[in-house]
Amino acid sequence: MRAIQADITTLTVDAIVNAANNLLLGGGGVDGAIHRTAGPELLADCRLLNGCQTGEAKITRGYRLPAKHVIHTVGPIWTGGRCDEPQLLASCYRRSLELAAEHGIRSIAFPCISTGVYGYPADQAAAIAVRTASATLRTLPIPIEVTFCCFLRSDLGLYNARLAADSAEGAS
Ligand code: APR
Repeated sequence: MRAIQADITTLTVDAIVNAANNLLLGGGGVDGAIHRTAGPELLADCRLLNGCQTGEAKITRGYRLPAKHVIHTVGPIWTGGRCDEPQLLASCYRRSLELAAEHGIRSIAFPCISTGVYGYPADQAAAIAVRTASATLRTLPIPIEVTFCCFLRSDLGLYNARLAADSAEGAS
């Protein structure tokens, strides 16, 4: 696993993950950027998916994106951490990776799900993202190259620290 600072819509990977909302009909932030770059066929495809529950994940093609697929997931809205937000955020990473494996996807990039409009504290979210991805990869039948695509430099620092801790744990 690795972390980079980039615009996720520019990445040539098998799948990029979209931090969507329950309606799956687009929005702002990374959702808006992905729909703008993918073009109108993405929205037409999403209309057929009948929404997405928080913590769940659904897949479409990438259309005009360099990525072949988009995995849409819906993170929790942060309300203080007492409404299952950690479990729901973990589920976004786990279900996205499980869905990717089901579709033979070998490389995937995640944005920092829920840490923008949805207000999830960035460091807590980074810890959940790295820990959940690391644990889930060990359960999958195929290896998947995971990239955490940070838009903000501050997030890149958080992810690099969490990844270093994760690999140290793995080595021990
Ligand atoms: N590439 C990578 N990351 C990006 C990009 C981009 N082009 N644009 C924004 N981000 C980052 C933000 O900096 C933040 O770290 O994505 C992360 C998630 O922020 P949001 O996009 O606001 O997503 P989220 O907090 O999960 O809120 C989801 O916002 O856009 C709406 O429709 C969406 O209702 C949903 C809600």
